[in-house]
Amino acid sequence: MSSKILVTGGLGFIGSHTVVALQEKGFEVVIIDNLSNSSIDVLEGIVKITQQRPAFEQIDLREKEAVKKFFQKYTDIEGVVHFAASKAVGESVENPLLYYENNLSTLVYLLQELQEKPSANFIFSSSCTVYGQADELPISENAPVKKAESPYGNTKQVGEEIIADTCRMASGLKAISLRYFNPIGAHPSAEIGELPIGTPQNLVPFITQTAIGKRQELSVFGNDYPTRDGTCIRDYIHVMDLAQAHVVALQRLVEGKEKSNFEVFNLGTGHGNTVLEVINTFEESTGTKLPYKIAGRREGDVIAAFADTEKANKILGWEANRSLADALESAWKWQKKVSEAEGN
Ligand code: WQD
Repeated sequence: MSSKILVTGGLGFIGSHTVVALQEKGFEVVIIDNLSNSSIDVLEGIVKITQQRPAFEQIDLREKEAVKKFFQKYTDIEGVVHFAASKAVGESVENPLLYYENNLSTLVYLLQELQEKPSANFIFSSSCTVYGQADELPISENAPVKKAESPYGNTKQVGEEIIADTCRMASGLKAISLRYFNPIGAHPSAEIGELPIGTPQNLVPFITQTAIGKRQELSVFGNDYPTRDGTCIRDYIHVMDLAQAHVVALQRLVEGKEKSNFEVFNLGTGHGNTVLEVINTFEESTGTKLPYKIAGRREGDVIAAFADTEKANKILGWEANRSLADALESAWKWQKKVSEAEGN
């Protein structure tokens, strides 16, 4: 029986793109998703791309017994790529316990099952948010993890500590934490992409919804920052490049190439772009005008963040090779597909 890879949150934005990349690399995938922030239609999108139907279990990982039963049913899980979590910074400030329960108790229940196995490989979805406003740019993995500016960010910091402590004691458990910068874009087929529920918090889905006419205009949150054009700088990485990094990280563990039982990698392009540069690139690459206005700063935004990608390039043997324009064009193609399906 071939070994299987569990992808939690596998019907989510990054999760679904990673399922496709894993299947295309020959892994057999089982998805757990509670559909709280995704749709079962995403499963059909995955199948359309790869012609392989992953097993799907609708489970809420907050139910400890359900997690235990899953591993009694699937006894041959060789690795877990763990995306399932809440990820809205603002919401986490309003409702911290929702985030501590959903992002941390679920992690504990998963690890409790994995530590019982003779061997297990664990890939953790983390975020550059753990660095806060880094003192030095680009940001390397040695940058200090600062006091999180939100409960969401804290769940990523504490999550990494929980994993590191567990791997230290559970001899067969090995883990890699992947700290994402800003994932954007969609699969080139436009069969899967980002499906924000309600008003998008993130820049690129707000841009595409504005360009398609679903939103009236984009508010640029501040143009008085100490940057080249006054707007914040971020490292926007194509979700396809990000998905590939998960495959490479999992292969590193499966093939026993890890240097320690808990490793951390920053995943970005290594380049920073300002908000205005993203807008200009979107307009140029899609030929679509974007209505926007300059608004006040958003609480909690860091001025600039972009990755030092040397460790992932050299040790993982991975690099992002798609451009900002590629990502924005794919996001736009996906938005047009979604809006067509919504009948507007
Ligand atoms: C990017 C830039 C905004 C919306 C967050 C999380 C991070 C990760 C990615 C989960 C900022 C500006 C945005 C808008 C704007 N999430 N902006 N108008 O805040 O860098 O990162 O999402 O893992 O953990 O912190 O991404 O896309 O929200 O913002 O001007 O309507 O766009 O001010 O400068 P962010 P973002």
